[in-house]
Amino acid sequence: MGDSMKHDFPIFSRLINGRPLVYLDNAATTQKPSCVIDAMSHYYSSSNANVHRAVHTLAGEATEGYERCRTLLKQMFNSNYAVITSGTTEAINLVSHAWGSHNLKAGDVVVLTEMEHHSDIVPWQMLAEKTAIELRYVPVENGELDMDAFEVALVGAKLVCMVHTSNVLGIRNPVEEVISKSHSAGARVLLDAAQAVPHESINFHELGADFMAFSAHKMCGPTGIGALLVSDEAFSEMEPFMGGGDMIETVTLEGSTYQTNEHRFEAGTPRIAEGFGWAAALEWLSSVDLESHHERLLKIANRVADQLREKGMTVYSSLRPGDAAVVSFTHPTIHPEDFARLLDAQGIAVRTGHHCAQPLMQKLGISGTIRASFYLYNDDQDADIFLSGIDRVLEAMA
Ligand code: ALA
Repeated sequence: MGDSMKHDFPIFSRLINGRPLVYLDNAATTQKPSCVIDAMSHYYSSSNANVHRAVHTLAGEATEGYERCRTLLKQMFNSNYAVITSGTTEAINLVSHAWGSHNLKAGDVVVLTEMEHHSDIVPWQMLAEKTAIELRYVPVENGELDMDAFEVALVGAKLVCMVHTSNVLGIRNPVEEVISKSHSAGARVLLDAAQAVPHESINFHELGADFMAFSAHKMCGPTGIGALLVSDEAFSEMEPFMGGGDMIETVTLEGSTYQTNEHRFEAGTPRIAEGFGWAAALEWLSSVDLESHHERLLKIANRVADQLREKGMTVYSSLRPGDAAVVSFTHPTIHPEDFARLLDAQGIAVRTGHHCAQPLMQKLGISGTIRASFYLYNDDQDADIFLSGIDRVLEAMA
């Protein structure tokens, strides 16, 4: 299944170190189908102009193509508001500035988890330095969130920020339960869904979160663009923090008024080519049965994890139904980077290191892992080549 899909992705026609590419670093970024590359190239070669400003033909085409991305996002995720950002990180920072700075005061509690990516820790630490909010971290026990501790942390909280699906472990957190309990306790909920939206269809309105951040490049779209979905209530509580062109209604020397829709949070010329590309990726993805691919990939990841255990590795991913197909593992003696270099020599791309989640690494008592992450175009053959590649590394390091 994955093999036939590879024909849509030009990168799979190249060799890496003389071998066909086996790309298993999808949690870092996914490859791009031709339609995405063509859409961006078409914008630059045929419709290049700025958006929301001029009345000429090119400006109209550019505006229409860019805004189509927003329309698709709202339709696909069922959200009234989709603020376009540079990615998940900017989306979370937007919440901390545009919502946090105005709705949180000294002593207010924000609940985070030990499983967060740095992009969902550092912005809150920065806000805590400025406004003396209190940060509480839900502990991770045996690779999952301690939900009893979550309930304790929730008492008096104003905001809960949680990774939907971990980029390190692939684990899907019980976000439905978290949202319902947080709302009952009077707290708003921000989900980092960067690793979730590539794998599962999410109805933002039904899910009921207040903010949901994600990036295009983890779902076959371009780098440099992402979105923040916002509930109607939370949107009414946000204030612009970045001022400039496009976000205003009127400007005089005495003061300015701001747009009332998402544009109030999008100062300056946006990522227009990336918007064209993401729109193409969203359309391409909507023709893919995410659910059946997800099941297929999880099966492959479980087979890989079992064999890695047999070969003496420690596997940290639990790979249960709903989890992403991400296999994080270590070898008792071989350093993850040495492992990855020897795999790369065989054309196999994996990521190593702390995966921008140093607190989780500290909790697991390790400095980093080797991570093989699978996506739509991966198949059993990729898994077989990866496992043979592991055997070669073990032989070479014996
Ligand atoms: N957050 C990305 C990863 O996990 C970059 O690799």
